[in-house]
Amino acid sequence: MCGIVGALAQRDVSSILLEGLRRLEYRGYDSAGLAIINQQKLERFRALGKVQQLTDRVPLDQAGKIGIAHTRWATHGKPSETNAHPHFSRDRIAVVHNGIIENYREIRENLLAAGYEFASETDTEVIAHLIESYYEDDLYAAVKQAVDQLRGAFSLGIIATGDSPALVACRRGSPLVVGVGIHENFIASDVSALLPVTNRFVYLDEGDFVVLNAEGYALYDSAGKPKELEITVSERTGDSTFKGNYRHFMQKEIHEQARAITDCLVGRIDTTTVLDSIFGSESEAVFTQLQNIQIVACGTSYHAGLVAKYWIEAILGISCQVEVASEFRYRKTVVPKHTLFVTLSQSGETADTLAALRNLSSDNYCGSLSICNVPESPLVRESSLVLMTRAGPEIGVASTKAFTTQLVSMLLLVISIGKLRNLNESRIASIVRELIELPRQIEQLLRLDAQIELIAEDFIDKQHALFLGRGEHYPIAMEGALKLKEISYIHAEAYPAGELKHGPLALVDSEMPVIVVTPNDELLEKLQSNMQEVKARGGKLYVFAHQGAKLDQSGDDVVVEMDCETSWVTPILSTIPLQLLSYHVAVLRGTDIDQPRNLAKSVTVE
Ligand code: G6P
Repeated sequence: MCGIVGALAQRDVSSILLEGLRRLEYRGYDSAGLAIINQQKLERFRALGKVQQLTDRVPLDQAGKIGIAHTRWATHGKPSETNAHPHFSRDRIAVVHNGIIENYREIRENLLAAGYEFASETDTEVIAHLIESYYEDDLYAAVKQAVDQLRGAFSLGIIATGDSPALVACRRGSPLVVGVGIHENFIASDVSALLPVTNRFVYLDEGDFVVLNAEGYALYDSAGKPKELEITVSERTGDSTFKGNYRHFMQKEIHEQARAITDCLVGRIDTTTVLDSIFGSESEAVFTQLQNIQIVACGTSYHAGLVAKYWIEAILGISCQVEVASEFRYRKTVVPKHTLFVTLSQSGETADTLAALRNLSSDNYCGSLSICNVPESPLVRESSLVLMTRAGPEIGVASTKAFTTQLVSMLLLVISIGKLRNLNESRIASIVRELIELPRQIEQLLRLDAQIELIAEDFIDKQHALFLGRGEHYPIAMEGALKLKEISYIHAEAYPAGELKHGPLALVDSEMPVIVVTPNDELLEKLQSNMQEVKARGGKLYVFAHQGAKLDQSGDDVVVEMDCETSWVTPILSTIPLQLLSYHVAVLRGTDIDQPRNLAKSVTVE
């Protein structure tokens, strides 16, 4: 979602800002813009579409040592050049904003009455005018006064013309970091934007302000009290945001999964079990007393939660509920005693998931656990227990390696809890062995790439697709359908195969591809009957069959044999060919794979 970059330096900053925006492209956006103060005057460039279009408009020798820039993901007002940020007020103030101002209407009325003219349909423009209405010579004071009137979740970057140049930023519900350089400082929504210029970051707390000026930077809490925060040195390198030899980030990330899973396991298991306290020193007490697990997540992470529910209930015999965060956060829930609250999130900053965690009010929760891919993200900082998935930066909007490492992390959780509750040692050892084998098996499945690329041709002109699964493969079917719709724009639905005749069968004809993953388990026979129902209606089956799954094949069926035995990790393995299928279909349909239309990687507004 919207990305912010800002810089105050002794050199010209436009190229730093543009590179920062390019690195934030993965968050998802529809327009981009940049404002710079050059010889005491604000200059602005904006473009609908890609950062490249904006770059084409900014002169190579653009001067200006202080500036802010933005990628916009439209919420209030359509994607257009006039709605793109930065927004100005009276050519004195420029603002970039990530998030939503809930009370912008009433503020707008007051500002209109005070004579301000509005050039856009955005909620952001009220912020610019409101700050301008308070601004004399202290930009921070004006921003503070304005922010105190705003309701919503947001982060802001503001510059103003005046005698002593300053850049003020604040964080209230949307992410923002300060990049600390040598005689130059920066702000950004995400460290990746600033990796070419610094590896030293200050993570603002909720409600904090930062003022960058010629002397350095100063931090203030929400009440305006000066504060200090530690500088964190990031181990990330700028390279992780490059595609290497791959055509797309998503392709790279699919092929990185064996490595990502290895990283996720390193130092956490030995050959027979999971090591103690990998979820933190307090985990033992929490895991011993818990009697119920509540998982909350969004999108692909929600699907990981759904798979985990099967594992938790089948292996541990502990009840588990899974819910999408946007529903959970607004619902009155009944919380059983000793419930562990688990959030799953790639980014750690998804607004609904974070709000669900922050709103927990029942005393029946015995702890909160975040399984996350981004250290220092709000979810990680605000949960009592943490496990990092270590997938490495995921740039493609459609989540792949984050999902499979989340699943691995959930199996580590199951074993860690099981260890403390008399789960049979040989059972633990056998799941650990499966985990150890997983990277090699994934490498093997990735060899199906060429075969799946050919199959993808069948989908070029399709409008719809149906994914079927049973048991823990139902959520995998959901994930397969989500991937296909996200990046190829083919309408795809997933159904538990047993529900087929309660509705979706009416849609099946020769134009409806039906994709099924068939593990060789006790549900195989039932699944076969569902497949027959599809065939009897002229539907075409695409079957990803596990080793040993004997199928009543007919000539029309497309069967991809997967070299994997059915085990606890099977859902992780089954994900791989479905990711490859979506990827290749999208390539053939020529869509924007890494930044699909209308979608964002980091959904920081609800
Ligand atoms: C967006 C992304 C998805 C992701 C979901 C949840 O919709 O496009 O890929 O699964 O948010 O994000 P999270 O960071 O919480 O896993």
